[in-house]
Amino acid sequence: MANQENDFKKVISHAKEYGYVFQSSEIYDGLSAVYDYAQNGAELKKNIREYWWKAMVQMNDNIVGIDAAIFMHPTTWKASGHVDAFNDPLIDNKDSKKRYRADVLVEDHVAKIEAKIDKEVNKAAKRFGAQFDKKQFLATNNRVLDYQEKATSILKRLGKSLENEDLVDVKNLIEELEIACPVSGSRNWTEVKQFNLMFGTKLGASADSAMDLYLRPETAQGIFVNFLNVQKTGRMKIPFGIAQVGKAFRNEIVARQFIFRQREFEQMEMQFFIRPGSQKEWYEKWKENRMKWHLSLGMGEDNYRFHDHEKLAHYADAAADIEFKFPFGFKELEGIHSRTNFDLGSHEKHSGKKLQYFDNEINESYVPYVVETSIGLDRMFLAVFSNALTEEALDNGTTRTVLRLPAVLAPTKAAILPLIKRDGLPELAHEIVDDLKWDFNVIYDEKDAVGRRYRRQDANGTPFCITVDHQSLEDNTVTLRHRDSMEQERVAITEVKGIILAEVAMKHWLQKMK
Ligand code: GAP
Repeated sequence: MANQENDFKKVISHAKEYGYVFQSSEIYDGLSAVYDYAQNGAELKKNIREYWWKAMVQMNDNIVGIDAAIFMHPTTWKASGHVDAFNDPLIDNKDSKKRYRADVLVEDHVAKIEAKIDKEVNKAAKRFGAQFDKKQFLATNNRVLDYQEKATSILKRLGKSLENEDLVDVKNLIEELEIACPVSGSRNWTEVKQFNLMFGTKLGASADSAMDLYLRPETAQGIFVNFLNVQKTGRMKIPFGIAQVGKAFRNEIVARQFIFRQREFEQMEMQFFIRPGSQKEWYEKWKENRMKWHLSLGMGEDNYRFHDHEKLAHYADAAADIEFKFPFGFKELEGIHSRTNFDLGSHEKHSGKKLQYFDNEINESYVPYVVETSIGLDRMFLAVFSNALTEEALDNGTTRTVLRLPAVLAPTKAAILPLIKRDGLPELAHEIVDDLKWDFNVIYDEKDAVGRRYRRQDANGTPFCITVDHQSLEDNTVTLRHRDSMEQERVAITEVKGIILAEVAMKHWLQKMK
């Protein structure tokens, strides 16, 4: 646990030191759970967004993208169920006066049980060495099975109580598990109460005529209300999808874990409209497709797992998370939800407008069903960034900090370094910069010894360094250094662009999804 906390602290401080993420309004001591993306962070975020957009919109001829407004007519949120049901169960500790999400307290307790399983696995792996069979161990070790049984039954009971709105039982569960407040250490809890997460605001100049609005808590509703507009103007045939990336806002009470849970964040969502009755098939397809997208980035198969929801949101008939192994354990990164025809059906009722599709293959009109994929861009950023940050022991006894970002997502693809600041080397380096910058982000760096510059770029996540030396002036070659292997090769200047493009082009990475 202490190690996890330390690793996570390193992630947060590295993100600041290397210009990825800053606390919002830092000069005023910051604003809790609100963050700004800095010069490198904005580029990394843009690349993740583009990687998602291409995989969804560009690669699928039956998916189109839109960009709906953050403000929506207030009836939207009545129809979507957010006014009545977008609540978190909260509990206060009477001694510390701290407020917690009751479900998170229980989930954290379960995470501790799961950590014990990991510990058993690690111990056994050490004991049995190469012969260790993790699957078999997990399926047969009595202690592990006990832990698993405990974790599953707690989560099941929590899911059931939340689904039945049985907040008394949620409190009972907290008491039975003897969960203590992390701040005061006491078990002196209030009752559990529901709290709506939407931010309200007003539209209009005077207090009397002002209209109450909400900042959207999910981008999906901008897609639902435009369903028919897009279907008609795009002449879309079912099955088809509408994708969108944009800001969402939630008044999160337990806002912590850096950019994992923020009050203002970005979602990348896609609603896939289908014939009623085909939802199971599409739900499975999209689960598989989205997992392929994640795996295409090469961040390790073992770092992902599916988690089926026990408690379903008010709109869903099936739902699963893709969880990622963050520095603080496996947590939700993306949701895949079978949303039935709840949203479109409800917007029909509240607006009085028909939101139906005439399916000429079966000669029938219906309100389409929807399978949704929804991923937080900021969470994806944290997954990529935390997974990439590595401290590596080198043969010469030193360590190097290297940010092994997937090259396709790295903010800067290459740094161009003149070995020294004279003899025409800076001029040639600038020429290379001017040539490469048309195709990808590069930077010029001439400060400090070249070894230090390499380390700086390693920590920044730059996949390539190009060093210009005296030989370059004679034979138009440079040293190309690879971030991960630290290997160096002598290549012709004319070949550099092709070599880099082969490693960073989105096409090559997306093709791994096939
Ligand atoms: N339209 C469905 C929906 O909004 P959700 O599970 O509430 O579903 C989807 O959110 C994704 O949005 C999550 O998997 C997560 O990646 C991201 N997300 C949700 N709340 C967030 C928050 N407070 N901060 C950052 N990301 C968040």
